Amino acid sequence: MTMTTTDTVRIFDTTLRDGEQSPGATMNVEEKVVIARQLEKLGVDVIEAGFAAASPGDADAVARVAEAVQAPVVLSLARTKQADVEAALRSVEKAKRPGIHIFIATSDLHLTAKLMMSHQEVIDAACWAIGLAKSHVEHIEFSAEDASRSDPDYLVQVFAETIKAGARILNVPDTTGYAVPQEFGALFRDLIARTPGGDRVVWSAHCHNDLGMAVANSLAAVRNGARQIECTVNGIGERAGNTSLEEVVMAIKTRRDIFGAVDVGICTEQIYPSSRLLSQITGIPIPLNKPVVGDNAFAHEAGIHQDGVIKNTLTYEIMRPETIGLKSNKLVLGKHSGRHAFAQRLQELGVDFGGVDMSEAFARFKALADRKKHVYDEDLVALVAETGVRSADRYELVDMSVTSSTSAAPHARVRMRVDGTEREESATGDGMVDACFQAISRLVGRQPTLVRFQVSAITADTDAQGEASCSLREGAFAVSGQGVHTDIITASALAFVNALNKLDYRHRHHQRAQATVGP
Ligand code: KIV
Ligand code: ZN
Repeated sequence: MTMTTTDTVRIFDTTLRDGEQSPGATMNVEEKVVIARQLEKLGVDVIEAGFAAASPGDADAVARVAEAVQAPVVLSLARTKQADVEAALRSVEKAKRPGIHIFIATSDLHLTAKLMMSHQEVIDAACWAIGLAKSHVEHIEFSAEDASRSDPDYLVQVFAETIKAGARILNVPDTTGYAVPQEFGALFRDLIARTPGGDRVVWSAHCHNDLGMAVANSLAAVRNGARQIECTVNGIGERAGNTSLEEVVMAIKTRRDIFGAVDVGICTEQIYPSSRLLSQITGIPIPLNKPVVGDNAFAHEAGIHQDGVIKNTLTYEIMRPETIGLKSNKLVLGKHSGRHAFAQRLQELGVDFGGVDMSEAFARFKALADRKKHVYDEDLVALVAETGVRSADRYELVDMSVTSSTSAAPHARVRMRVDGTEREESATGDGMVDACFQAISRLVGRQPTLVRFQVSAITADTDAQGEASCSLREGAFAVSGQGVHTDIITASALAFVNALNKLDYRHRHHQRAQATVGP
């Protein structure tokens, strides 16, 4: 298909649903609302806020997101079951622009091994569920799960019937990340050409990244007629993740020669703040070499490259850092900077995560500036993101001291507030971080398994803030936490406490253990 007019490619963000199915990416309701508000600022067209039927906690989160944003369509995922469709519809009742996303698998493998349904039964179930939703919402998306491994002739049949039933958006998922771009693009061309009524609906691509081709496959779909891309911030999602929002958007924006006939309504300057915010909330670090938002994405190491960039940035840079919200005029704040300078810089950076108590953020900034000579933009984004998501915490680190010497085992003493009451505990450990984690575990009465632990520096100077992240597992629950501080032991303790709060939240809300939908 040749692209002749400028069409809009809708950005359907599923960070809060498929993204949350990433191991350890669980978010509580308040965190989801903070992310949703940021997604609205980013300019996404659709927010898939969760899977309402999965648990009351999920339904509540979708409902809260539905109330919190105005411009994007807010929808919930639903299987073709009555209870799912009803829960999904209830959860978006208060949305300004409500929608529903109904899915059922269409590959023979899924039909025989998982659903135990015939081809006709799947079509009937899909049409029935769409019919049920139709009198309540106009925005009905239907997904043929495992479409890329389904028989194309059968897909044509499924899509033709679901259009007749009332679906307005048809989603073609590469559920297992199996497709390659040429093949996936051809599938779109074929489906759009052969499906009766296919010219009246929006075709959507939903790709997983198991072979590292989610972005390429999504772009191939666009080149062949798709006008919606389903993606997540930082590409988080099941297994190897989903199509990364920032990569697919910046590919369309950067390669106008190839994608000039389409555009996306994304405010690209909000890409970096969104990426940092999500990382802060989920505790999942952004890989250094992650395209677009990784710390190294605009760093030039080789002398020849540095020389070229100094002479002309275009020699080795295909995008400008400012385009994604990274300011090149890095204004440095310090302990003499006042509230006005602080607020102004945040405004210039486009950092306004909504619901953040700015007095608390300013107090944290002052405390940071006392410990650290220069406070950089990256520090500010991390600080505000952290302030916005710590409000509903049950465990709070009040004070800690750790000692270590060559002759004695490291010893940690921690003071924490648990449900408002201060307590103290101490422990020894294999190292200073271990001693801290032991003391904290003892104090809160939890012994989770530490699955992953990582510390990195936010900026380059010797008094840089350390950003620690850790993943914990306790029974069926896996969570990640993040902490930022100039002292890396304190950053580690904060990350551990953050993860413990998430574990506690999950236990209290009996949220689903891990992925409940899709593979
Ligand atoms: O990957 C997938 O197939 C999904 C569907 C539920 C759309 O996430
Ligand atoms: Zn998916």
